[in-house]
Amino acid sequence: MRIRNICCIGAGYVGGPTMAVIAQKCPEIDVTVVDINEKRIAAWNDKNVENIPIYEPGLPEVVQEARGRNLFFSTDVDAAIDKADMIFISVNTPTKTYGIGKGMAADLKYIELCARQIARVSKTDKIVVEKSTLPVRTAEALKNILDNTGNGVNFQILSNPEFLAEGTAVDDLMDPDRVLIGGDIDSAKGKEAVDALVNVYAHWVPKSKILTTNVWSSELSKLTANAFLAQRVSSINAMSELCEKTGADVTEVAKAVGMDSRIGSKFLKSSVGFGGSCFQKDILNLVYIAKSFGLHEVADYWEQVIIMNDHQKRRFASNIVSSLFNTVSGKKIALLGWAFKKDTNDTRESAAIYVADYLLNEQAEIVVYDPKVKEEQIFADLDNLNSRSEEENRKRVTVLNDPYEVCRDAHAIAVLTEWDEFKEMDWGKIYKDMLKPAFLFDGRRLLERKTKEEIGFEFYAIGS
Ligand code: NAD
Ligand code: UGA
Repeated sequence: MRIRNICCIGAGYVGGPTMAVIAQKCPEIDVTVVDINEKRIAAWNDKNVENIPIYEPGLPEVVQEARGRNLFFSTDVDAAIDKADMIFISVNTPTKTYGIGKGMAADLKYIELCARQIARVSKTDKIVVEKSTLPVRTAEALKNILDNTGNGVNFQILSNPEFLAEGTAVDDLMDPDRVLIGGDIDSAKGKEAVDALVNVYAHWVPKSKILTTNVWSSELSKLTANAFLAQRVSSINAMSELCEKTGADVTEVAKAVGMDSRIGSKFLKSSVGFGGSCFQKDILNLVYIAKSFGLHEVADYWEQVIIMNDHQKRRFASNIVSSLFNTVSGKKIALLGWAFKKDTNDTRESAAIYVADYLLNEQAEIVVYDPKVKEEQIFADLDNLNSRSEEENRKRVTVLNDPYEVCRDAHAIAVLTEWDEFKEMDWGKIYKDMLKPAFLFDGRRLLERKTKEEIGFEFYAIGS
């Protein structure tokens, strides 16, 4: 079966880049990305491709090439579903904020809405692909909804989790470590659907990197991969605290440990804590699933990864307070970086939000600079915490687009995102314009200690 028309529901960080790359690599397939968020779709269609809603290196070029040719962005969800042979569901699956499983389970209401809409609109057979990260056995619920339409339409459900990381999405999509496709491989129709999706990816991914499994293995592999990655960050962050007490240096430890080929060197960078929309949500979901099967030791094991991460964010912030003679009340603290990692404008679960909140609770005056995050996003992130009134947030936090202005007259600077430009700044000038003693807290191990101490900074880097 050859796919001619793809629809993707959800034009976010996954749907947008993934579909742009599929469209670029498969010029004979029409790809329509739909979303209920009109503002987002308008931004994807902006004449100036630099204004697309997601900042990802290399993405504007891919969108420019395919948009209008075989890549379309639209709010007409019904029309795109109707036309498609293959539908990707790429909507958000946040942690539930209400009811049973509140704060732990994945909220599947957006997924279910998509399934019901697909069931209502479809008149021809379709392959439905779970692209969103979902709890194991979600496909069963989707199948139940789709198989009960009574209109004779046949649906095949595949799981095709996405492993891209933000900031490197285009490279990850162009040259993935693997593509994972779960389907009903024991039935002829299921196998045909799996093959159809394999053929889409085979336009640019070597077949040896395309894994096919049953649906449940595919769904669970995605949660497992994120849990393992986050666990490495929490493991090295746990060591960072021990390094600070013992005179060891976490970068040296990570290097020595990572050169063991069984361990590997990636994802061993100590930080102020991992952020992003997925690690925490997916581990909480894993913990919830384990608990729901009565596997309490399994649940506790993975929950510790989150506990460690929360501790790391808090400990970084509390160290700022204790270093500044146990009070930051009325003191100006400059935050460099707000995004959860470099090369993205995404701030979801960014450590910066929690560090800022902690310092605001201690009555600090916060000034923020991030090269890609807008002021309105920073205020929205703080307002969402409900720690204080919106007026109070605007009174106590200032966002500027000049890093030197942000640091002027500050008592302390905290580096919270590893943007390359922070390495290149004129630290001598920054020091001159600060209050003394001038404290510099590096939450990313981005800056060189020796040169900063020579300038005169009181320098603190996580993990040494
Ligand atoms: P996102 O919030 O950026 O995008 C989701 C989009 O879906 C939103 O624009 C929303 O308006 C839209 N949407 C929700 N319900 C809809 C509906 N019924 N009809 C049409 N549009 C609808 O989310 P994201 O970061 O792209 O993540 C999507 C999924 O992919 C999540 O399950 C996430 O866990 C997973 N994932 C994310 C990443 C990542 O790096 N962000 C990587 C791998 C997997
Ligand atoms: C992560 C995974 O890397 C992707 O494979 C996955 O598809 C995605 O989650 C998802 O499911 O959403 P992402 O969150 O975009 O991708 O970015 P990462 O590079 O994994 O970084 C996550 C967080 O961990 C960032 O805050 C980063 O600064 C931090 N981190 C990462 C460290 O502190 N140290 C490290 O060594 C690596």
